[in-house]
Amino acid sequence: MSWQSIKEDMVCLAHFWSAAGSFLALYLLLQLPELQALVSYKPNIVLFLADDLGIGDIGCYGNNTIRTPNIDRLAKEGVKLTQHIAAAPVCTPSRAAFLTGRYPIRSGMDQSNVYRVLQWVAGSGGLPPNETTFVKILQKQGYTTGLIGKWHLGMNCEYHNDNCHHPLQHGFDFFYGMPFTLMNDCQVSQPAELDGPLRAKLWSYTQIIALTVLTLLAAKLIHLVSVPWKTIFFLAVFGFLFFISWYSSYGFVRYWDCIMMKNDEITEQPMKVERASSLMLREAISFIERNKHGPFFLFVSFLHVHTPLVTTENFIGRSNHGLYGDNVEEMDWMVGRILDTLENGSLKNRTLTYFASDHGGHLEARKGNVQLGGWNGIYKGGKAMAGWEGGIRVPGLVRWTGILPEGKIIDEPTSLMDIYPTLVHLAGGTVPQDRVIDGRNLMPLLLGSVQQSDHEFMFHYCGIHLHAVRWHQKDSGNVWKAHFITPVFQPEGSEGCYEVKYCPCSGEGVTHHNPPLLFDLSQDPSENLPLSPDMEPLFHIVIKRIEKAVDEHRRTLTPVPQQLSFYNIMWKPWLQPCCGTFPFCWCDKVKENLDNGQQF
Ligand SMILES: *[C@@H]1O[C@H](CO)[C@@H](O)[C@H](O)[C@H]1NC(C)=O
Ligand SMILES: *[C@@H]1O[C@H](CO)[C@@H](O)[C@H](O)[C@H]1NC(C)=O
Ligand SMILES: *[C@@H]1O[C@H](CO)[C@@H](O)[C@H](O)[C@H]1NC(C)=O
Repeated sequence: MSWQSIKEDMVCLAHFWSAAGSFLALYLLLQLPELQALVSYKPNIVLFLADDLGIGDIGCYGNNTIRTPNIDRLAKEGVKLTQHIAAAPVCTPSRAAFLTGRYPIRSGMDQSNVYRVLQWVAGSGGLPPNETTFVKILQKQGYTTGLIGKWHLGMNCEYHNDNCHHPLQHGFDFFYGMPFTLMNDCQVSQPAELDGPLRAKLWSYTQIIALTVLTLLAAKLIHLVSVPWKTIFFLAVFGFLFFISWYSSYGFVRYWDCIMMKNDEITEQPMKVERASSLMLREAISFIERNKHGPFFLFVSFLHVHTPLVTTENFIGRSNHGLYGDNVEEMDWMVGRILDTLENGSLKNRTLTYFASDHGGHLEARKGNVQLGGWNGIYKGGKAMAGWEGGIRVPGLVRWTGILPEGKIIDEPTSLMDIYPTLVHLAGGTVPQDRVIDGRNLMPLLLGSVQQSDHEFMFHYCGIHLHAVRWHQKDSGNVWKAHFITPVFQPEGSEGCYEVKYCPCSGEGVTHHNPPLLFDLSQDPSENLPLSPDMEPLFHIVIKRIEKAVDEHRRTLTPVPQQLSFYNIMWKPWLQPCCGTFPFCWCDKVKENLDNGQQF
């Protein structure tokens, strides 16, 4: 018997034992008195999701210069997950996975050609109506459900108000916030983010065509030339199309994308970014107070800490880390206000509270020497990088005082997608049986009735490209990660793609690895030292096991319509939510209500 085959046998044996162990654990779990007690009432649920926050940005994950006492309170009174993994390194796909409990590739909510996130409120892509969010199940189980803040999962399909992707179609009873996402174009004082040169071109074409039409018209009227009316008419229509394209983007992105809604009504177009968070906070507190007899589910999806880092005056200049730090501290304060509301309403012990970020901090967000994006601690890379830990490892805190242990730290791999089955379970519902759900119920791990998470493999996708796979080898406890594709960092020696701002998923900007780059995350969480077959005797076994898992995983995928295809991404004037008569879309109902002496 060769050493190799002995080792394989040992791995097999270990698999057998770990499987037997899982059965035993499951059996014990079903006997647990706590769990039975849990079913006796449905807890309220409050989820906080930050936008672009890095794991290294908060106190309880080791930051000693930024002040986040309220988020830290959740860690002290609950469970801190140190290997909590987002399903994608950018907003739209990560949020789709969070709400559906499925890798975004299963719902078509990830990059398939050029675009990685939705670009316009008036595109036709979005979370498909036949995906079942956990929110929808909670709603069926008697929860009053609310979303406050960012959505970024689409709006309309065919008409400007069919709302086919709207939060209210996906299980929310109440929505107050941005159907889109914060970006620089939303703040008047910021330079536009969407492509400037293209718009300049559109404008010059518009001018050239307009000039041609006017010249022809004049020449025809004084009988200088005999152009058919039809030609002039078509040219004019053509010019008008260019004008609309120019008008719709140049400087007007604010009107198209930066809007606030309450349920299906537009309240501000364009929104006044400076007051958005205080309005959101007010709505969150009022939602809890209205529904305190529960059970309620509240999803606070922050606009913080995405650029342009809109921060109120109270917090400007307060932190040690410039505007970015100020913005983080303001968000923490908002978390605190909502936690206080729970405490004052004696809801704390009956409420499961969760905090996470949708993906890692954005390293390349900077202006000159000023860092405007987050910090991912000891982890390599950041936002937009699907394989490197910095892009996907995020804070994960769960508090439920009286039920979950306090101050406990769990290092096992967990996923944001786990929230799906966990909450469905607590609500007494069942997860859909007609599709693959990739999340796992976290309760046994959180309660301490099992020591290992249920995830053996995690697949780290960048759009439709599989960049890396994590293997949690249950017998040894090792966590391996194999990278098949990594982005090319530039400038060389840095850990980001500073010249293009976001690392790409495919094409010239990536390197393919065969054999894959292998790391032992348990020993080398910063992924500094790729293992070689000489250094790591298990190298080939690990790679083989991972490749087998990839094959098995691929067999569970089915082709679905691509929500981020060019056609679905495109700005479509006929889908534009508009609170006037298109294209004259502006309103400020907050101001109107205040003027009328009404509470908004
Ligand atoms: C704390 O966060 C700031 C802001 O992101 C970062 O610059 C700093 O390096 C972090 N400090 C530590 C000790 O992680
Ligand atoms: C809430 O739970 C904590 C921890 O178990 C307990 O000490 C406290 O008395 C409970 N509070 C209420 C109001 O039940
Ligand atoms: C939703 O519909 C699409 C296309 O009609 C289909 O490919 C997909 O499998 C459906 N998804 C689910 C979860 O049923």
